[in-house]
Amino acid sequence: MAKSPQVSSRKADHIKINLEQDVKSAVRTGLERYRFIHEAVPDLNLEDVDLTQEIFGKKVQAPILISSMTGGTPEAERINLTLAGAAQQAGIGMGLGSQRAAIEHPELVRTFQVRRVAPDILLLANLGAVQLNYQYSVEDCRRAVDMIEADGLILHLNPLQEALQPEGDTHFMGLLGKIEQVCRQVGVPVVAKEVGWGISEATARRLANAGVSAIDVAGAGGTSWSQVEMYRIQDEHLARVAAAFRDWGIPTADAIQMARRGAPGLLTFASGGLVNGIDIAKCIALGACMGGMAGPFLRAAADIENVVAIIEEIRLEIQIAMFATGSANLQQLQQAALVKDEIGGTDGSRKPD
Ligand SMILES: Cc1cc2nc3c(=O)[nH]c(=O)nc-3n(C[C@H](O)[C@H](O)[C@H](O)COP(=O)(O)O)c2cc1C
Repeated sequence: MAKSPQVSSRKADHIKINLEQDVKSAVRTGLERYRFIHEAVPDLNLEDVDLTQEIFGKKVQAPILISSMTGGTPEAERINLTLAGAAQQAGIGMGLGSQRAAIEHPELVRTFQVRRVAPDILLLANLGAVQLNYQYSVEDCRRAVDMIEADGLILHLNPLQEALQPEGDTHFMGLLGKIEQVCRQVGVPVVAKEVGWGISEATARRLANAGVSAIDVAGAGGTSWSQVEMYRIQDEHLARVAAAFRDWGIPTADAIQMARRGAPGLLTFASGGLVNGIDIAKCIALGACMGGMAGPFLRAAADIENVVAIIEEIRLEIQIAMFATGSANLQQLQQAALVKDEIGGTDGSRKPD
């Protein structure tokens, strides 16, 4: 297999750019269009609200996921251990960043191994799906899962990002068949995930037919990877091309509903631009089972206490949103009434279409 020494330095660039530059999408998540109908007399007590559920056989204490970000450098290892330690304390799930660097450079495996601080969490491995068209096999997917003792494998889909990388891997033709083979043979549930432009209804249906267990919509409204790549690009023409995609993508709120329509039998993970627990609660009312955040956790990853405090805030926001909609558990929150704000007011419908 061709080794690619630039993978680790690209990941280092990504962290630096995400921390130092404005990489926010020009698209809004769409969640701002929705509002819960407030319940003035909830028939339950705040402390009885149940935020727990089981995902891929692991109990999670709150529907919050630390989205896939990093690995492969000493700084990435520190970030992974900080986030994983906080996830363990709070009982929430976490995805690791793409493990391609560790598949190709075994000495980097340790930078992804967080079970030493997080033995009990829902932990998801991560590889770029397109690598399956560049000599990666089911066996490589299994190695990614085994090296971190993961509960599931995320295959990320990032055609636009690859197209904007001078060294990008853009051969996507025939990929779905390879994803299907991984789903059949890898031995753990597979999650199909975008990286910030969303997944359409038709594509959700095709992914469901390929055998994935969950879809992480990673919609538009948060970190824009065309912006991140724009800051890396040396060539001014290509940089302008990247800048033109700042308002590209399916807003997260729309992507969740598309995924529910296209793949109603699968779990839907919501992510892309979520900033607090109320956003996550809205995503759940739109049909997701949990909400992921990447950028916000990266910015908090200075120390474990900081990350735990932020998780606690988000958890409390979800709990209070559930209380103030009369939702005793996450199934009831999925049924909670949302109204959609139209320009000049609300349309008063019970659920968005
Ligand atoms: C520094 C950084 C690195 C990322 N690396 C990966 C990755 O390796 N694999 C992946 O699936 N997504 C990756 N993502 C994308 C996130 O998981 C997420 O889908 C996206 O950033 C949108 O979420 P946000 O708006 O909360 O940041 C990365 C995000 C950040 C901020």
